[in-house]
Amino acid sequence: MKKYISFFLLFIVTPLSILSAQKTLRTLLSPGKQTAVTVGLNKTGEPFYKITYQGKIAVDWSRLGFLTKNFDLRDGFTLQSAKTATHDETWKPVWGEVAQIRDHYNELEYALRDEAGRRMIIRFRAYDEGAGFRYEFPQQDAMKNVSITDELTEFQMTADHTAWWIPGDYDSNEHVYTTCPISQIDNERYNREYAIATQHIVKMKNVQTPITMKTASGMHLSIAEAALADFGALHLESDVKNLKFKAFLIPSADSTVKSINSAPFHAPWRAVLLSKDAAGILESKLILNLNEPCKIEDVSWIKPQKYVGVWWEMHVGLATWDMEATQDMMAATGREVKGRHGANTGNVKRYIDFAAKYGFDGVLVEGWNVGWKDWFGKWKDEVFDFAKPYPDFDIEELSRYAREKGVRIIAHHETSGAVTSYERQMDAAYAFMNKYGQNSVKTGYVGKIIPRGEWHDGQWMNNHYLRVAERTAKNRIMVDMHEPVRPSGWHRTWPNWLASEAARGQEFNAWSSGNPPEHECILPFTRILGGPMDYTPGIFETRMSAYDPKKTEVVHTTVAKQLALYVTLYSPLQMAADLPENYEKRPDVFQFIRDVPVDWDDTRVLNAAVGDHITIARRQKGAQNWFLGSITDENARNFTVKLDFLPAGKTYEATIYADGPGAHWKDNPYPVSISKRTVRKGDVLDLQLAAGGGCAIAFMLK
Ligand code: NOJ
Ligand code: CA
Repeated sequence: MKKYISFFLLFIVTPLSILSAQKTLRTLLSPGKQTAVTVGLNKTGEPFYKITYQGKIAVDWSRLGFLTKNFDLRDGFTLQSAKTATHDETWKPVWGEVAQIRDHYNELEYALRDEAGRRMIIRFRAYDEGAGFRYEFPQQDAMKNVSITDELTEFQMTADHTAWWIPGDYDSNEHVYTTCPISQIDNERYNREYAIATQHIVKMKNVQTPITMKTASGMHLSIAEAALADFGALHLESDVKNLKFKAFLIPSADSTVKSINSAPFHAPWRAVLLSKDAAGILESKLILNLNEPCKIEDVSWIKPQKYVGVWWEMHVGLATWDMEATQDMMAATGREVKGRHGANTGNVKRYIDFAAKYGFDGVLVEGWNVGWKDWFGKWKDEVFDFAKPYPDFDIEELSRYAREKGVRIIAHHETSGAVTSYERQMDAAYAFMNKYGQNSVKTGYVGKIIPRGEWHDGQWMNNHYLRVAERTAKNRIMVDMHEPVRPSGWHRTWPNWLASEAARGQEFNAWSSGNPPEHECILPFTRILGGPMDYTPGIFETRMSAYDPKKTEVVHTTVAKQLALYVTLYSPLQMAADLPENYEKRPDVFQFIRDVPVDWDDTRVLNAAVGDHITIARRQKGAQNWFLGSITDENARNFTVKLDFLPAGKTYEATIYADGPGAHWKDNPYPVSISKRTVRKGDVLDLQLAAGGGCAIAFMLK
């Protein structure tokens, strides 16, 4: 039966008529001939493309084009020209996983014209690690304003691959991943037991990009977007019968329109990352390479950083964001409020002292400004003032104190979704930060968006995030966005945009069913492909019953795995998220968080399987020290790791932080066995990871 279906499938989806229009067929090979993109027009002038990888079809014949309010860009095209080019350049990211990146591709500019004289170019780039293409609309008399109602791009899969995905929610990406064959994609459960506070899931077969898949032969592919700007985010409609995905652009407030643009313009890149194994997906630089080079001339002020903050204590219910200590937010979520306003001068000084003592760069302070009384779930404009501290947060004194201790306060701008209000205040807010010596801000978009009717992933908001990146850069401010659209590689162009949350972060472990043990083994293959995540690792007190005996929530990892996340979840911005007192109870374990860097010259993926395990070694920026992180899902695993990455002829002291005897994420999360060994290149280490566990190793040059 299955065979019959796939035969039938090929028959109906392959535009056989392309063969009758051979004149328009072009094949673009990647420089090392790993990837081939073929494009052509069928006899009604509809464009189709196909991608093969290492001789196998990765994306079978798939449609290209758009529908707009006033005309179609779907068929009736003739080929005007097909120019090829080649590009080979090596560039240095301001910060990253590696010191330099090679951008090597062959390009095809496939220029079309329809019967009404409208011109559209489809630009393809073939890399050895996949392909990208984007639609371009040159300046022309035949087409000026374009109100896109649908993108017709398809991705025809060749079989019922295993897929890792989250639902096509217009408003949130903070979801647990589902692993299933394409044919079983269904969002239904996300509107039942997995519902989160702000979500809008209306299309039951829609998924977000990047979606990552594995074929029966082990090929891995990921459909993604790069350089999203001035457009609705790319989600995908799954045709579960025909094993095909079709582009679905997040609409604007006027639900009949997806994006409104004026020629000349171009749509963002659509990318297909390809690899023979899971490790290759982690190593791919395709999304970064499809983004524009850095737009900031002087980048000397942009610094990867580790931080602590007045933060987790609110999430575990020991303190409040609002000074009025109203019960609003907790009442809305059904959670009990204990404690006092976290951002008071004395408490912030305690964190500054802690940061200074242990070498952290920053102290995030949430709840420092007026407005928190009204922030949650009200869809209200003008909630916050971003230049007005609460009276118990003495900003003059705290700025002086932080400066004296060599620590920076990280500002927090929770917009509560009132984005027009934030836009009105942005200049004043950044000037206020500059005045007090703050050079990093965490923004937040909890709740429904104002302008009302816009979505977190829509064109208006996607432009807003970029305005924030640009405006903060102008003010020499680094930014970390929570609840934005998932990233699409913009950190190449705006490296002051250090990280985003844009996925289900650690906080969910504090007050919900949490993140299953496989979660951190999926994120790097999906969400993190587009850019670093502010996941906030480092929780040592993993049981919320420690704060309130009635609580049953837990972090779904062992403590050793929390350490390993600093290596496996790449970000130039990493928090040590737990409370200072929890770290001071375990100074020997805390040592790893103190030592681990946040910027790297080299990265090696030692083993990887999506959703199962990841082992990565990285070399510290500008130094010879190496760090290794190994994590597993709910299954205990043993790995043998050969230290081939260490340089020959050098001796290292390895400090190994392993799951202790009997460790288990749920039953026994705390034990960490710390041991030291002298090692050299070629030595072999046996890593034993507990269920939901991990292993972290610091290799210090002797
Ligand atoms: C959600 C963010 O992800 C979290 O980090 C923050 O503490 C709250 N919003 C409040 O802004
Ligand atoms: Ca969040």
